[in-house]
Amino acid sequence: MRTASLLLISLALAGPAVAQDAAAGRAKAASCAVCHGQLGISVAPNTPHLAGQPDQYLATQLRAYRSGARKHEVMAVIAKPLSDEEIQNLAAWFASIKVEARAP
Ligand code: HEC
Repeated sequence: MRTASLLLISLALAGPAVAQDAAAGRAKAASCAVCHGQLGISVAPNTPHLAGQPDQYLATQLRAYRSGARKHEVMAVIAKPLSDEEIQNLAAWFASIKVEARAP
């Protein structure tokens, strides 16, 4: 157990070198689209955009919903069945979407 945790920590610290499959994440993200939009631009007023957010941030939030460290009724249910690999892939997919910011 301890070895597994240390391994996960070192994988997390390795950043982009971790094997991530954005294509697999994209396929998995179909179930997120109803709220977060097809390309991670939210389609619901109470829902954050995911497109272009750092993959580390997204993965951390998904793990926090899964563990209950971050509380939200809907996202807890959605994150619960996700494996670490699925979380990495989802995070890689949403992080890879290009977003552009313009001054108003
Ligand atoms: C039924 C609507 C719904 C669906 C489906 C849904 N989400 Fe969410 N998601 C939300 C809402 C609402 C929040 C804001 C929760 C909060 O306030 O903590 C959220 C928050 C998040 C966050 C945190 C974003 C941030 O900026 O901190 C991530 C990451 C996320 N969702 C990923 C996903 C992924 C990946 C899927 C698909 C596997 C998914 N969500 C499916 C409604 C949804």
